[in-house]
Amino acid sequence: MRFGRIVPAVFAPMASLGVNIDHIANVRQARRTVEPDPVRFALLAELGGADGITVHLREDRRHIQDRDVELLRATLRTRLNLEMAATAEMEAIALRIRPDMVTLVPERREEVTTEGGLDVAGQGEGIRTLVGRLEGAGIGVSLFVDPDGRQLEACRTCGARWVELHTGAYAEAAWEDQPLQLARITEATTNARAMGLRVNAGHGLTYHNVEPIAAIEGMEELNIGHTIVARALAVGLEEAVRQMRALVQNPRRDPLFGDRQP
Ligand code: PXP
Repeated sequence: MRFGRIVPAVFAPMASLGVNIDHIANVRQARRTVEPDPVRFALLAELGGADGITVHLREDRRHIQDRDVELLRATLRTRLNLEMAATAEMEAIALRIRPDMVTLVPERREEVTTEGGLDVAGQGEGIRTLVGRLEGAGIGVSLFVDPDGRQLEACRTCGARWVELHTGAYAEAAWEDQPLQLARITEATTNARAMGLRVNAGHGLTYHNVEPIAAIEGMEELNIGHTIVARALAVGLEEAVRQMRALVQNPRRDPLFGDRQP
């Protein structure tokens, strides 16, 4: 019997896509009514290929409500990532609802969206205790931080298993500064992994700027919300998720520099 040449498989691990549905809840809360229901739309996002659903339960409940988180926990077929501030109220909710992951984020009432990363280096002990309690209850914890070596080192000493790198500075950079911001995120990813941390990223990513971030070696998951919900108005949520997932899973390595220019 002849055997064909055995070619070792080359696995290029692909980043997965977490879909943040806060902005669907924003439309509902604009009228304090019952539609659109983010829970129903989460199920459509899953049909479109979302690998997980992310919601931010804010202290002021401006978009996602407690009932949403409870129903998502009961109905999702993928993973639930609960973004929350490091407060006693949120800790109690997380321990009761038991999301698959908690992402700790900074929160300020007056901000339009999460502005900077968490200052883990500055608030070390409190974060460390909370991470320990959540992890002890079997909930994976990710810390949302700027791509900064000092913060990464603090995340490691806090015992978190994941970091989510803040991509806001990259997303907002002028075109000529984007390569520098991309390099910061790439370097932070490499450094975090060398410390034994797993790496996600998000904030401000769009259909136009996501590919270089998705192509970073070692990047595990991108959490993306606003741009997907915006496109969903034109093409429907399922299709908007499908389109984003295609970019995340098969990114051009360097579209900033036009490696696939026609
Ligand atoms: N990741 C984190 C930690 C966030 O706070 C947000 C915004 O809620 C996102 C990702 C998604 O950001 P965007 O809506 O800009 O895609």
